[in-house]
Amino acid sequence: SQNRLIIKNGKVVNDDGMEDLDVYIEDGIIKQVGRNLIIPGGTRTIDATGKLVMPGGIDPHTHFELEMNGAKAADDFYKGTRAAVAGGTTTVIDFVLPQKNQSLLEAYANWRDKADNKVCCDYGLHVGVTWWSPSVKKEMQKLVTEQYGVNSFKMFMAYKDLWQLDDYDLYCAMETCAELKALPQVHAENGDIIARNTEKLLAAGVTGPEGHELSRNEEVEGEAVNRACVIANQAKSPLYIVHMMSKSAVRMLQLARTRQRTPLFGETLAATVGTDGSHQRNACFRHAAAHVLSPPLRPDPATPQAMCEALADDYIQVIGSDNCTFHEKDKEIGKNNFSKIPNGVNGVEDRMAILWQKAVNTGIMDPCRFVAVTSSNAAKIFNIWPQKGRVAVNSDADIVVWDPRLERTISAATHKHAVDFNIFEGQHVVGSPQYVIVSGRVCLDDGELRVVEGFGRFLKTPVGSPLVYGEGQERAAPEPELLHLDIQHKVSNGSPSPDFG
Ligand code: URP
Ligand code: ZN
Ligand code: ZN
Ligand code: ZN
Repeated sequence: SQNRLIIKNGKVVNDDGMEDLDVYIEDGIIKQVGRNLIIPGGTRTIDATGKLVMPGGIDPHTHFELEMNGAKAADDFYKGTRAAVAGGTTTVIDFVLPQKNQSLLEAYANWRDKADNKVCCDYGLHVGVTWWSPSVKKEMQKLVTEQYGVNSFKMFMAYKDLWQLDDYDLYCAMETCAELKALPQVHAENGDIIARNTEKLLAAGVTGPEGHELSRNEEVEGEAVNRACVIANQAKSPLYIVHMMSKSAVRMLQLARTRQRTPLFGETLAATVGTDGSHQRNACFRHAAAHVLSPPLRPDPATPQAMCEALADDYIQVIGSDNCTFHEKDKEIGKNNFSKIPNGVNGVEDRMAILWQKAVNTGIMDPCRFVAVTSSNAAKIFNIWPQKGRVAVNSDADIVVWDPRLERTISAATHKHAVDFNIFEGQHVVGSPQYVIVSGRVCLDDGELRVVEGFGRFLKTPVGSPLVYGEGQERAAPEPELLHLDIQHKVSNGSPSPDFG
């Protein structure tokens, strides 16, 4: 029958271990995990011999249908979640981004309207605090209630005159998060430095996509990471730094951990481990502009491997995609001014295969750590664990049967995104999903995609995550041995760094 399924002979991989076990699913829930299970007749069997049975991926950073610089992101909640499922991701968390002075509740309702009938898998929402006033605080108090189910708020230190908060407002927003036991998320780049550098570059005639990174190099990110951590410490708040794109950013986060009393989490992106900043300098505008996102891909060629190592070493806890795809015609808005190029890249589909290729196939991390950073850690941080992020009895049957030998070449010609470009074009990967099960339904069936529009549900994320706010999370004082930690030891790849030396 449709609602009964057994996955046999596979190796179950969770963040804390792997074991040869069968998994029996009924009505969207994992009902039994073990060997020689006794199950009803008529149950469909998937043979997972030689395959890994892992929790479906959780991508906690997407922007489906986002409007920016006069363009709208190509992947909507249908095509975006369809691409997610094709790549093994069964939960996404998107960002509600209110306009300046717009009610957060109204923006939230708009996002629900855009998403609820389109999503192919479960989804949650973060809400952007893109302006500040006492009324915003009142709306945050409502958003964290059971009715709305939001437990995380994103603040921007960049995008001056659009979403940027000053330090006073950022401090207030973080205090409010701490009061509500919600998690503040920060886009860490110094927007004022970026604004001034942009003026200078444009005046000097640097108008192409190469100007993007030049206006916001690594130290502009590292400074903001440090400042965000300081403000969080003053506000006695935990902090989650989204899309960390550089070795400088990781180093500043790790340094902050030596003195911080509250938990600090870091996220990096598939784009960062899967490609590099050289593409922004491609002579072809289409190619270069397609790689423009913020913070930018870095010119330092050691960055991708350093970010894989940071994920492996727990300096960074999560890999997301920041999927925010714009067609070539939309990127052309910035043809004569790099600062007008709509920001964003693909990644929701290829995030897992890219990390597998770059970090597991190279021996940088094992499959358990892969599960931790692609799924379980996000589930714990955003307080949906063990419903999500775990293959265990009573967890949702969101499962990927991963074939570590499946080979394919990533291409816009075959990807499931709506967008006409793929930043991983031509990359050969070994390891991809063979089956993807969403709430007990086989949505990728031996490589064949069979998603259902509107099948996913809105996922409420309650405040007060034990990992973020639980016993022992707030330290009385920094651990002395951390003060002597050589933070360059594993993060950098040997060569002396030009930044924050
Ligand atoms: O370039 C990016 N990252 N676009 C999406 C908006 C954001 O800052 O996350
Ligand atoms: Zn951002
Ligand atoms: Zn090109
Ligand atoms: Zn983003």
